[in-house]
Amino acid sequence: MASGESMNRRRFLRNTLLGSAGLSLAGSSIYEAAAQIVNTPRVEYVNGVGLDDPMLVKLSINENPLGASRSAVESVAKYLFKINRYPFHTELEEALAKFHGVTPDMIFVGTGSTEILNTLALSTYFDRQGNTVTGFPSYPGLPSLTETLNRQVKRVPLTPSWGLDLDAMLKAIDKDTRLVSVCNPNNPTGQLLAPAALEKFLRAVPPEVVVCVDEAYIHFADDPAYPSMIPITKKLGNVVVSRTFSKAYGIAGLRVGFGVAQPALLKRMMAYGMPDINKNTLSIAAALGALADQDHVKRTVRLAQQGKEFLYAELQAMGYEVIKTQTLFVPVKVGANAQTIIDRLAERKVRINQAFDMPGYIRISVGLPRENEAFITAFKSVRSAL
Ligand SMILES: Cc1ncc(COP(=O)(O)O)c(C=O)c1O
Repeated sequence: MASGESMNRRRFLRNTLLGSAGLSLAGSSIYEAAAQIVNTPRVEYVNGVGLDDPMLVKLSINENPLGASRSAVESVAKYLFKINRYPFHTELEEALAKFHGVTPDMIFVGTGSTEILNTLALSTYFDRQGNTVTGFPSYPGLPSLTETLNRQVKRVPLTPSWGLDLDAMLKAIDKDTRLVSVCNPNNPTGQLLAPAALEKFLRAVPPEVVVCVDEAYIHFADDPAYPSMIPITKKLGNVVVSRTFSKAYGIAGLRVGFGVAQPALLKRMMAYGMPDINKNTLSIAAALGALADQDHVKRTVRLAQQGKEFLYAELQAMGYEVIKTQTLFVPVKVGANAQTIIDRLAERKVRINQAFDMPGYIRISVGLPRENEAFITAFKSVRSAL
């Protein structure tokens, strides 16, 4: 929104909602709060950003500890008064296409990246048999839907250094393989592939097999110049790159993700989703605001890097083996007591998770410094009580 228009909007809100005539018209603290949001009051966080319980330390599902960017929040506030209108426009697709150097018809905005993964599996297996090749452990989105549809999953063990074994995955592709899932960086192990090796792999996969490169955590790569595989989708019609606004962009609650691929592949996927009507006015507004604030992404990544350094140092000093990651979380080997530790921490209002499919490992999402410290304090007391 142009700044002049934005000024007029603020004046309008102040006059209609906070003025005496406006109060009798609106008369609700919700409207006043909305007006205040548009006027950007100072915000004081009690504990974790976005949590109702000021005592809770939530480090369990890799949410952005800083919250959404201010421009995303302001953008949502501006659109609060337009929610009576259908959001039938392609502003977000156009902005994403411009940002990522592709055409708008190569973008499929989904209800989180989960919709991208789901429609890919559904469109692949609705009327065909086949199998999906994946690393193991790796993000279960595509593999679990493949199994829900009663198709096979071929799980290829990771390398000894917790990375995807691309050579072994290539060998696992057989005449029945329809899909390959490449989570990069990999969740739950946090390792990133060498870009040249990944590109070589993508070129080696037979063209009738679709490869999904899930880049949910790519912003957290140590090297800020680490390349996305988005450009390669312009050359290879069997590659879809999946992205999310739930992590570095910090709007998990509004459910925005997108897939980048050639239009023919996206069209097949869209037939199994709800393109155009899956988005909503506020999710589009938030995503546009978040995309426009790349400084917030950088702040988030810096915070994650500092948080990881703190967690590594503290946990290693306590004698634990940590896996250093290029993501927003840290897996730690704790042995057979993993679930007990998680339960005892939960009693102390610190929520963490198992590193899925990694027996004996817990996974800590990086939080604000005070949240990371709270985790370490609680972890020490749980450990000494075991
Ligand atoms: C690797 C990976 N892919 C995809 C998702 C799904 O995220 P969303 O549907 O919020 O975009 C997640 C969520 O944690 C994830 O870790």
